[in-house]
Amino acid sequence: MFNNLEILWGVVITLFTLYCYLTTRYGFWKRHGVPGPEPVLGFGNILKGMFGKESLPDFVSRVYNGHKSEPLIGVFLRTMPVLFVKDPDFIKDILIKDFSKFVDRGFLKSEPADPMSNNLFGLEGKRWRPLRTRLSPVFTSGKLKEMFQLILECSDHLEAYLATMVEKGEPIDARELAARFTTDVVGSCGFGIEMNSLSAQESEFRQVGKEIFSNSLYRVLKTKLHEIEPRLHALLVHLLPWDKPTELFIKITRETLEYREKNNVFRPDFMNILMDLKKHPEKVDIELTHELLAAQAFIFFAAGFETSSTTISNTLYELALNQDIQKKLREEIKQFEVENGGEWKYETMKEMKYLHKVFQETLRKYPPLVILSRMSIEDYTFENTKVTIPKGTLLWIPVFAIHRDPDIYPDPEKYDPERFAEDKFNKIQPMQYMPFGHGPRNCIGARFAVYQTKIGLIKILRNYKIDVCPETPIPYKFDPFMFILTPSTSLNLKMTRIED
Ligand code: HEM
Repeated sequence: MFNNLEILWGVVITLFTLYCYLTTRYGFWKRHGVPGPEPVLGFGNILKGMFGKESLPDFVSRVYNGHKSEPLIGVFLRTMPVLFVKDPDFIKDILIKDFSKFVDRGFLKSEPADPMSNNLFGLEGKRWRPLRTRLSPVFTSGKLKEMFQLILECSDHLEAYLATMVEKGEPIDARELAARFTTDVVGSCGFGIEMNSLSAQESEFRQVGKEIFSNSLYRVLKTKLHEIEPRLHALLVHLLPWDKPTELFIKITRETLEYREKNNVFRPDFMNILMDLKKHPEKVDIELTHELLAAQAFIFFAAGFETSSTTISNTLYELALNQDIQKKLREEIKQFEVENGGEWKYETMKEMKYLHKVFQETLRKYPPLVILSRMSIEDYTFENTKVTIPKGTLLWIPVFAIHRDPDIYPDPEKYDPERFAEDKFNKIQPMQYMPFGHGPRNCIGARFAVYQTKIGLIKILRNYKIDVCPETPIPYKFDPFMFILTPSTSLNLKMTRIED
């Protein structure tokens, strides 16, 4: 066998080879003429993030502000090079003008053994394109108008639920309240299912929703393994039984489609589009398995409830801190309520100008997606530069940091809906405000999100005054284990009924 000296030599040679590999790897951005922060051997630029000491919004801001005048910044996620794109013209090129070269998101790889990963958000261009075309009609104006009635029904349940919660006289977790409401809305509008999240007991869908966005040790380790060793992750996913969300969405998609086919049920919702796809697979030039359909149901549920619910709860949080804004918004709500004889109409939502400004300001300060991600599908040279990135390079557009850049939004920590007054907002470039992304791969549910968020806010604010209380987390801290913008604790607020 080997003697001690041979073992020592083996270790030295291995370490030396690893060192050479890493230093060559970390020379990537220098070789491409892109500046960036110095990486730490083995960790790249995310040493603190790897140990839960820095959240994604904080990381993105650190990189952005550390190279304020650079249009492009090169960083390393451990050993993977990622290009931060800051310049609005380059952002426009990537998202819109040269979109066909950046059609993939890249960072969420779909895996055959993990059926839910084959969803519209994560799919590569080839399967994404036909599916996006077929799924888009779910949110036409006509359909949204019909869905508006369903949103109103859910908002009545929200009012009733909130009344019972307020009676208890305890602080209310705005995140949980909003998540229960949007879970019901998405269930009703997307699936024709009474999800019943606004009942005393926690419904199955609310439990699954929590699991999808949980920062439990199991989820965190699974995500980290996916990032660090995708092949081992794929093997584990293959060996382990499906998790609860996967099981549930495979089951409800199958049951709903079968039931509707058998009973000739038509509803103008998302499931109907999936049914149409199933009946006419020739309309999309890809293999349409049942799992692929269920993955689309999964992403409509996940993306549909969580982003709008955090927008509602972040707004309530800011309104508790900014009583003058809350008062002004409530006055607008009351005014339209009186004008419409106590009813809420689809058309009214567009007329409520102050509500819209509040909505926009929340999404500026708290964009649920901290970054937009794209991957180059061929070599690409940025216009008027010598920077060429190879095929397969990951690009991040640092939405959160742009939204909090004082040169674009003066005093960015201040919550000020008046930034979105027409005369001011017109001066901001579209590529400097992108809570829903831009271009052909932008958010498919943006318009739906506007309606469910606004109605949720209206129904809470018309009857309740929102205040901070000793349990309210001040300052707001971001969860270091979450990929989407999430506070690190509950958003507990005091809600008091206003007597008319
Ligand atoms: C306030 C609420 C919401 C925000 C801030 C939001 C934000 C976003 C963003 C930033 C993207 C990526 C865009 C890009 O890369 O350019 C996205 C994609 C997506 N969103 Fe939303 N979203 C919201 C609500 C919704 C709702 C209600 C649904 C569905 C019911 C939805 C479904 C999706 C889907 C399926 C994608 C992937 C689109 C694709 O790749 O073609 N989102 N969203």
